[in-house]
Amino acid sequence: MGVVLEALNVVRHFGAVKAADNVSVQLQEGQTVGIVGPNGSGKTTFVNIVTGYVKPTAGQVRFREQDITGLEPREVTNLGIARSFQIPQLYTSLTILENMLIALSIRSRQHWGFWGPLKSADRVGEATQLLARFGFAGGIDQRVSTLPEGGRKLLDVALSFALGPKLLLLDEPTSGVSVDDKFGVMDTLMEAMKRSEITAVFIEHDMDIVARYADRVLVFAEGSILADGDPDSVFANPAVRTHVLGDGV
Ligand SMILES: Nc1ncnc2c1ncn2[C@@H]1O[C@H](COP(=O)(O)OP(=O)(O)O)[C@@H](O)[C@H]1O
Ligand SMILES: [Mg+2]
Repeated sequence: MGVVLEALNVVRHFGAVKAADNVSVQLQEGQTVGIVGPNGSGKTTFVNIVTGYVKPTAGQVRFREQDITGLEPREVTNLGIARSFQIPQLYTSLTILENMLIALSIRSRQHWGFWGPLKSADRVGEATQLLARFGFAGGIDQRVSTLPEGGRKLLDVALSFALGPKLLLLDEPTSGVSVDDKFGVMDTLMEAMKRSEITAVFIEHDMDIVARYADRVLVFAEGSILADGDPDSVFANPAVRTHVLGDGV
């Protein structure tokens, strides 16, 4: 399996805080990677650095062997890296379908440099199909404001997906989603990912979710990667149990 993303000694300080303290990691094609760690341990900073929202103080980020360090978010997106945010970035007064049509027109603008008609029959067809993969079978003419949090999270990821990414980074895809809906949301997300062989990285606080969906876990602590491995070995690691899971402290 090829390397999709590589971080090499990435450093980012905010004043005295080391939000990224020499982070080095390689992610392989098709991997599903869970990122865990206490609040303030640098999880979001890592995603922000990879996606161009935060510039590293030192170090390098490589995507499919290309140096992407310091590129703007839009340039990073154009290369095939998409992300979602802890709080979904949606047009809540528009419908589910309209949100997807906008995402698709952004993609075609990236590829061809112009805005195509927003509502051509082809576009609507493609939008409808993509939405169906994320569990939006009926009701796509509803306004986003009527959706529960789980639905908003799914739609947010579906919109990033419209950009055809090779690497997708999700910041807490189940935060704010009710306990009953969490596994349903993740099942839907993972099913859609598997079908497209995308590399997925998700930040998550719920260890049951991580254990079930990640095939690799990165544990962040104080801006560094404290542990890296499959869920069983990482969750059995004494340092992880003490510092992150809060056992035996
Ligand atoms: N834009 C910023 N300005 C100042 N400090 C920041 C900024 N972004 C993050 N930090 C700090 O960096 C550390 C890591 O933050 P973050 O990456 O958001 O952690 P996590 O996502 O693991 O909760 C925290 O101490 C946070 O306060
Ligand atoms: Mg965070």
